Amino acid sequence: MRSGCFVRLISGFTISVVLTLLPIYGYRITDFSSVPTTVKTVENDTVLLPCYHNGPYSSIRWLREELLLADTGNPDFTPPERVRLFTNGSLQVANVKLEDTGEYLCQIASESGLAMQRHAIEVQYPPSVISHPSGEVAMQVGSIFEIACEARGVPFPIITWKRPSDNGSDLDHVESRRRLLVEVRSRGDAGNIQCKADNGFGLPAVAGILLIVQFTPEVKAEANVVHTKIGFRATLECSVTAEPSAVVHWFHHGVPLSDSRRILRQDSVVAPRSPDHLHTQSRHLLIVQNVQENDLGMYECKAENKVGIKGAIIELTGRPLPTIFKASPIASTPMTHNLIWQTESLSPLTEYKLRFRQVPTGNVGPHYRLPPADWTELTVPAEFSDGPIHTTGYTLRGLASASVYEVVVSSRNRYGWSDASKVVRFATAGEIEDATIVSTETIEYEEIVDNSISDMGSSGNFDYSTSNSATVQEASKITLGVTCFVLLIYWKSLYLVVRN
Ligand SMILES: *[C@@H]1O[C@H](CO)[C@@H](O)[C@H](O)[C@H]1NC(C)=O
Ligand SMILES: *[C@@H]1O[C@H](CO)[C@@H](O)[C@H](O)[C@H]1NC(C)=O
Ligand SMILES: *[C@@H]1O[C@H](CO)[C@@H](O)[C@H](O)[C@H]1NC(C)=O
Repeated sequence: MRSGCFVRLISGFTISVVLTLLPIYGYRITDFSSVPTTVKTVENDTVLLPCYHNGPYSSIRWLREELLLADTGNPDFTPPERVRLFTNGSLQVANVKLEDTGEYLCQIASESGLAMQRHAIEVQYPPSVISHPSGEVAMQVGSIFEIACEARGVPFPIITWKRPSDNGSDLDHVESRRRLLVEVRSRGDAGNIQCKADNGFGLPAVAGILLIVQFTPEVKAEANVVHTKIGFRATLECSVTAEPSAVVHWFHHGVPLSDSRRILRQDSVVAPRSPDHLHTQSRHLLIVQNVQENDLGMYECKAENKVGIKGAIIELTGRPLPTIFKASPIASTPMTHNLIWQTESLSPLTEYKLRFRQVPTGNVGPHYRLPPADWTELTVPAEFSDGPIHTTGYTLRGLASASVYEVVVSSRNRYGWSDASKVVRFATAGEIEDATIVSTETIEYEEIVDNSISDMGSSGNFDYSTSNSATVQEASKITLGVTCFVLLIYWKSLYLVVRN
């Protein structure tokens, strides 16, 4: 054990001796009063590299890498232009050029041998950068490509990347990473991809590409169902977003539509491609003048570009719009509930189908619920009204008190049934046994906002697709409807009282 330690001590000593002796034989640092320096400078400056020896010497030489710059031992040697050796040993490089960057070696010959000292000149200059590829680059979604940025500058610049999908923040701070692999995932990747070269000297330089992402057109129908009436004008509308811009074709029951005097197309560019959004947005209308019975049915607008094809379905129908329940101002009794609903239909309504069911209450919890009762269906004949908004009141009787019910209604005209209304809930009056019901169930009428009939522009009389006046007009109609309803009830009860 002891001998092991000894051996290690010996070997440690040997190594340190070798390390200390090496510089003495190599460079003889101790002979100099000047120290090795890297002189940072700029173009056209004048630089002085010192080489001050402590003792007497016979000659001094300067070398730049292998190239001799000055030699006092050789009087015939002429230093290159801009280079000058002073008698005190310093080397001056005047009016420096970018290519003067490098290592400079001073050699001093004395009695004790050759001593050397290294210096360096770093001519700083601002960064510059170029990218491959550059300019506008069009790529389809799914493609992968590489951008390389080649930077120059002293000190050597650090390259950072920036992509639009990274919200404008710097992507990578990886030093001198010259290549970026780009995967085009979605059209959101379109935009400038930049590499920035910065070396802390002068302004950073920027290069890169404008990535144009090519994608299958995106098609959206303005309304998936357009309600109309024979003799009206109907407009079907599709919005298309595409790059490259798309060509749109219309189909009726799968058959391509050709222009006719009655069926017109209108295509317009809403927003052309611009640096802000690198795709084209367009609007495509199909206008059916004087709608005929056989114009009704399924339409499709199909948008196509070199990447793909995509369509949107629009139904042109004479059916009523989905009915909307309105809050009834008449207080319900424990056994009855008053309903008011409103339907938009351009053609007279023939009947309503009202369905209701009791929703089980009591012992309900988030994980335990009784299944609701079966729906009870009622047919309510429609009274004649001019429309297009038809308001109807109906009283459900024989209900259980303090109970929750769900109700849904659809309406019919000569073209068929409307889609069902939203299911709404109400509670009958009475003492509620389980108070938790009230807080866990929403017993309110849902507000249904969308109640516009598409394109009634040509009819003149009913242009209530614009919001404000329409709301007022509609509101007054409701009030009127409600008032009639109240009067009707009042009159009926009077009648009953009198008869009894
Ligand atoms: C150095 O001098 C040259 C020639 O006069 C000039 O073109 C260049 O801009 C100068 N460089 C700097 C950094 O001033
Ligand atoms: C060496 O000579 C140059 C030129 O005369 C002078 O600028 C420099 O200060 C001198 N250095 C020393 C240490 O004397
Ligand atoms: C990215 O941009 C969106 C919209 O400009 C902004 O709401 C969001 O906060 C941004 N996220 C980050 C991480 O900056």
